[in-house]
Amino acid sequence: MTKQFKICLLPGDGIGPEIIAESVKVLDAIGAKYDTKFDYEEALLGGIAIDETGSPYPEATQTCAHEADAVLLAAVGGPKWDSTDPTAPRPEQGLLGIRKDLGLYTNLRPVRTYRALADSSTLKPEVIDGVDLIIVRELTGGLYFGARERFYDELGSGANGTAGQRAYDTLEYREYEVERIARQAFEAARKRRGRVHSIDKANVLETSRMWREIVHRIHDEEYPDIELTDMLVDNTAMQLVANPRQFDVLVTENTFGDILSDEASMLTGSLGMLASASLGDGTALYEPSHGSAPDIAGQGIANPIAQILSAEMMLRYSFDMADAADDIAHAVEAVLDEGWRTGDLKQADTPADHVLGTAAMGDKIVAHL
Ligand code: IPM
Ligand code: MG
Repeated sequence: MTKQFKICLLPGDGIGPEIIAESVKVLDAIGAKYDTKFDYEEALLGGIAIDETGSPYPEATQTCAHEADAVLLAAVGGPKWDSTDPTAPRPEQGLLGIRKDLGLYTNLRPVRTYRALADSSTLKPEVIDGVDLIIVRELTGGLYFGARERFYDELGSGANGTAGQRAYDTLEYREYEVERIARQAFEAARKRRGRVHSIDKANVLETSRMWREIVHRIHDEEYPDIELTDMLVDNTAMQLVANPRQFDVLVTENTFGDILSDEASMLTGSLGMLASASLGDGTALYEPSHGSAPDIAGQGIANPIAQILSAEMMLRYSFDMADAADDIAHAVEAVLDEGWRTGDLKQADTPADHVLGTAAMGDKIVAHL
């Protein structure tokens, strides 16, 4: 019997519509091969949603997300909506809004290096060869969601006691939030190489000291088989470029995970390669780790691979279609092995006729399925 899944598509802004179209092509090819029908419903998120409805995460989009079996998102944001007015709606509020609304507290960001792209990275091939790690980023807590305010302080706040503007953001975690993300990391490690690095700033931050205690308690009580190492976030930033092969699973709070995942993506040669899955207890969301790249939007040159690999993660985690997901991963690898590149992956010796646009790259990947 034909299987059927409903996908809520959120193209968003910038290069979003261009790259999401390529993941739909790939999904349709998979559907034909595996007797599965994907039904798509498109909705607005981010800047385009602000333009058309006034809200970055409108009600129709909330309904689309809640009623779907999974959400596939491209990217949001752009200079058009940049504003210093704190009351103006921001595209990023749409992204944070949907993460919170769907309870997506686990963000998985796998980083694998491709042998074919060894020379695309700014790091030496012998440093990045064989890197295979996953960042487990806490996604609905910490600085991103803590109390914040900007105000004029009559009592004085300047260096010399003069009145002036003040602003604060709050980094706060609850015990249960750390417990559940720790479990996700240990579970991921059990399916991989059995090692977890827990990343914090326990030499300075109280939230980090609590994080460390809880991660160790969950480890000792439930996952003693996993090798657990604590690492300070500044040291981790250094270790990721000095010796990235030491890592299997990294688990960390929201902001550290945001920063470290951009850094880690460059081990693969381009931010355009990094997919992600955001999981909670209900509908999950899949999106590339990169942004909307407004500088190249509409030119048909964006790399669609992170978006296509996000669809791969959707098949794996939401639809229980591991074989189909493997097919996509292999197709991407084969296309890269054959020397096909998008502009961001181009090497000095890449022949001009091997540099592909967004749609042509999607077609190549489909052809391998
Ligand atoms: C990411 C992005 C987002 C984040 C932005 C666009 C709000 O950088 O998914 O990593 O900071 O989480
Ligand atoms: Mg980021």
